Amino acid sequence: MKSDWSVSRRAFLTNIARTGGAGAAYAVLDALGATALAIGEAHAYAGPPPMPAGIGKGKRVTIIGAGMAGLTSAYELSKAGFTCTVLEARARPGGRNWTIRGGDLIEQSDGLQKVNWPKAPHLYFNAGPARIPHHHHALLGYCREFNVPLEIMMNDNRAALYQDDAVFGGKPVEAKQVIHDANGHFGELLNKAMSSGGLDKELSKEDRERLREVLAVFGDLKADGRYHGSERAGYTEPPGAALKFGKIRDPLPLSELLKAELWQYKIAFNQNYEQTSTIMQPIGGMDQIPKAFAKRIGHMIRYETVVDEIRKTALGAKVICHNNKGQKTSIESDFIICTMPLSVLRNVPNDLSPNYKKAIAEVRYDTPAKIAFYAPRRFWELDNDIYGGMSWTNREITQILYPSQGIGQRDGVLVGAYSFGVFPEDDMSRVSVSERLKNAIVSGEHMHPGYQRMVRDGVSVAWPNVKYSQGGWASWTAEQKNDIYRTLQEPDGAIYFAGEHLSNLPAWQEGAILSAHYAIEKIATRVRS
Ligand code: ALA
Repeated sequence: MKSDWSVSRRAFLTNIARTGGAGAAYAVLDALGATALAIGEAHAYAGPPPMPAGIGKGKRVTIIGAGMAGLTSAYELSKAGFTCTVLEARARPGGRNWTIRGGDLIEQSDGLQKVNWPKAPHLYFNAGPARIPHHHHALLGYCREFNVPLEIMMNDNRAALYQDDAVFGGKPVEAKQVIHDANGHFGELLNKAMSSGGLDKELSKEDRERLREVLAVFGDLKADGRYHGSERAGYTEPPGAALKFGKIRDPLPLSELLKAELWQYKIAFNQNYEQTSTIMQPIGGMDQIPKAFAKRIGHMIRYETVVDEIRKTALGAKVICHNNKGQKTSIESDFIICTMPLSVLRNVPNDLSPNYKKAIAEVRYDTPAKIAFYAPRRFWELDNDIYGGMSWTNREITQILYPSQGIGQRDGVLVGAYSFGVFPEDDMSRVSVSERLKNAIVSGEHMHPGYQRMVRDGVSVAWPNVKYSQGGWASWTAEQKNDIYRTLQEPDGAIYFAGEHLSNLPAWQEGAILSAHYAIEKIATRVRS
């Protein structure tokens, strides 16, 4: 290694990173006293709010919903001596954290689906959350505390595909080709712009020279400053033994690349703060987390109990609810923490003040939907070298997600669609389940020829049609964030609110947990004062 010290620092680090992995590169940086350059991101999470032991003694809290916010609230408050009752309309904990397996029933307003997949630990479908970003410290903290084992969830895969009906004849191309050919073209263009004096005003001569060096690496440009293709974009004939030198792909034409819809957000998706490596998942399904909570506080949860009314009382608040036998109960408590999605709460009769009712009524919920298929053969691994990650398309399914679980096994469960439902045109819930599945197979066929014969037993979860969710996640406007969002951060009398919708990490379990921490801290402060 020492002999490499004579070459430039860049080449040195590139070399180490290639041969020894990132860990080796960091070790060398450390030796150079430059660790701070490479390892960043300080974090301020100090754990759940500290609660003096016994502070909640004699105080009752009714928690509406056993999703991540409700479970967190009950777990932390009960440790501090509060008597908690959790009312959960479903027969399971987790709320939108929902893992589906063979034999399960999926009940939606648009019908009942039976999941006909074989049963095996790797054959599951996370219909709701499926990713845990590396900086979601609160969620990761609970996974540690409860010994929920995690594994890497591949969220980025350069062997996965981009397919767009309007470019490349509608044929899928590998992500590595799109990304590196684009980088090559962009690098060459910048070089040309500099050569014709196009950046003379913006950059000094020295900086232009430096930029040329940067572009050479960024775009894998040749000595002439042009892009002639790169091994980064893959081969038409891969290198092998003896005289198999390999033949790199011809670059995709820039004009075709630019036409592709993927520039809107798909190509940059994995660079988003919440989506970048490392992303994790619990081994065996996302529901291992709510199950771990329920193991500790399950005795506090009343399942299949539906809230009919939320009322204020002289001393606190009460919830009127009924169970699956139709028995009605009224539960009085000092405090309520309501974690129901606002899309559901807005239809529950309540005594909330007018400004709260207005806030709850106005928030829009996005309409995401997912589809999963059973595949007896892991064709994406065997035929495409795709191990986890996702392929993107401009079609309604938006993406196909390949399982990070069960890699190398015979069969798998593939997510054949995940539309975010941010735009009306990708709201898959507007058509019937069978139509959705049919469309997903047609679109899948564009990505993987023969798809219709390779997948079966599709199921679809469209969150607007899921009872007790009625939407995916809250979608606040900037104006609402400055107004009604703030209203709901404060309790209305004894009624507190929590959930992903009251965080700045909407659509994330971390947001739900942090929002629960915020609510229980307020309750603790109130009890103390
Ligand atoms: N948090 C959601 C996801 O990553 C939106 O898909």
